[in-house]
Amino acid sequence: MRLSQLAQLLLDASESRTKLYDWQKAWLDDNSRFRVMLKSRAVGGSFLIALESFLQSLLRPNSTTLLISFSMRQSLELFRKVKEHINRWKDIKIRAENDVYTFSATLSETKTQVEFQNNSRITSLPNNPDAIRGYRADSVYVDEAAMFKNDFEIKAAIIPCIAGKEGRLSLISTPKGKRGWFYEAWTSETFSKHEAHYLMAPHITQSDLEGMKASMSPLEWAQEMEMEFLDELNALFPYDMILQCVSDYEAKLEKPENPVYIGIDFGRYRDSTVITALEKLPDGSMRVFFIDEMLKRDFNDQISYIERLINLLGPAVVAIDKTGMGIPIFDLLAKRFANIEGITMTANVKEATIKTLHSAMTNKKVIIPADATQLINQLRAFQRIQTKTTVKYQAPEGQHDDYVISLALTIYAALKPATNIKIYTGFWK
Ligand SMILES: Nc1ncnc2c1ncn2[C@@H]1O[C@H](COP(=O)(O)OP(=O)(O)OP(=O)(O)O)[C@@H](O)[C@H]1O
Ligand SMILES: [Mg+2]
Repeated sequence: MRLSQLAQLLLDASESRTKLYDWQKAWLDDNSRFRVMLKSRAVGGSFLIALESFLQSLLRPNSTTLLISFSMRQSLELFRKVKEHINRWKDIKIRAENDVYTFSATLSETKTQVEFQNNSRITSLPNNPDAIRGYRADSVYVDEAAMFKNDFEIKAAIIPCIAGKEGRLSLISTPKGKRGWFYEAWTSETFSKHEAHYLMAPHITQSDLEGMKASMSPLEWAQEMEMEFLDELNALFPYDMILQCVSDYEAKLEKPENPVYIGIDFGRYRDSTVITALEKLPDGSMRVFFIDEMLKRDFNDQISYIERLINLLGPAVVAIDKTGMGIPIFDLLAKRFANIEGITMTANVKEATIKTLHSAMTNKKVIIPADATQLINQLRAFQRIQTKTTVKYQAPEGQHDDYVISLALTIYAALKPATNIKIYTGFWK
């Protein structure tokens, strides 16, 4: 029996209404050793690899399956999907053709690993090459493979891990530029290729799509939903530069031990305010520990929220974009707190703050949480536009840059006391 048929029988037996899509069946029935799937967001990719890893573990005793994600949060989330399948199918017995399949209980379960009675196990790991190196695996899945900062290091760790056992390797991802291991796999002869476009996943409704379209810029839509590998050539902040500044930790609102700096941008295109807070570590690097967006909140609400943040975090400097909506907010806060710095975002000032951010990122002095997808996407889309007479730094037409500007203001605040900020010049000539 094909794996897709067995999977569907199980879904039916567990009274799940899920009918596997054709692309999901094709993936399950592809026995190639190396597979890669290019997908739109939310189509059911993680669901599918969780399902497959579970089925393979049960059909193949003594097997080891590794699920690898780009952050700890993502790896817990993926493992939760594996557990959903396990719980759905505990103690189910299926007769199909001449075979009987029983799916007996598990031997042990933790938050990231499950062991079955047949001695097979599934382990979900975050982006940690050292941890991966310790395994010999029959099957390795890399979820959102294009989002790994050190993807080639991960590749180097995985290859020996599957070499001994003739193990299989599967990469699935939404694209993130013409770069990195995922793009290499997608364009190589070695991998068997699969595609999952959102039109092939009708559980995503028209209104879901409209919601997503409203929250994404056209460039993000092209990448995240239309699965386009964007060119890195014209990016001011290419993915490789962004990802070298990414680290796997959770952003949270807690006062750190080191000096805190805050940047606040009031979005011009929609009613949104983005607040970024970082701590400056003893080695001078700047670690973003909090990012928040206030959407459509009235003036008083915004003021009291920002005041609470300032009281909680005791920042050394708060840099506020003092244009438009920012003017009255700045005026009020400046009366109540000493360390508020109003920045009038003229074209020159914007250029200086963006260059400073660029320089700090080039020098790997900025640390961004791996799960900060909106910031990462906006950074990637941000452009330096050369016209006949001027240079402009902004998001492409109709797109947002409030996360980028908020971060740039925060970096500006953190570097301001230094009299000698080094600006990376080679790029700008
Ligand atoms: N064949 C199917 N029919 C209906 N719903 C499905 C099917 N396959 C998956 N789903 C549902 O689609 C939703 C999204 O699944 P999942 O999180 O696995 O997608 P994803 O592609 O990994 O998304 P993301 O891009 O956010 O990581 C889940 O609620 C899942 O149950
Ligand atoms: Mg997923």
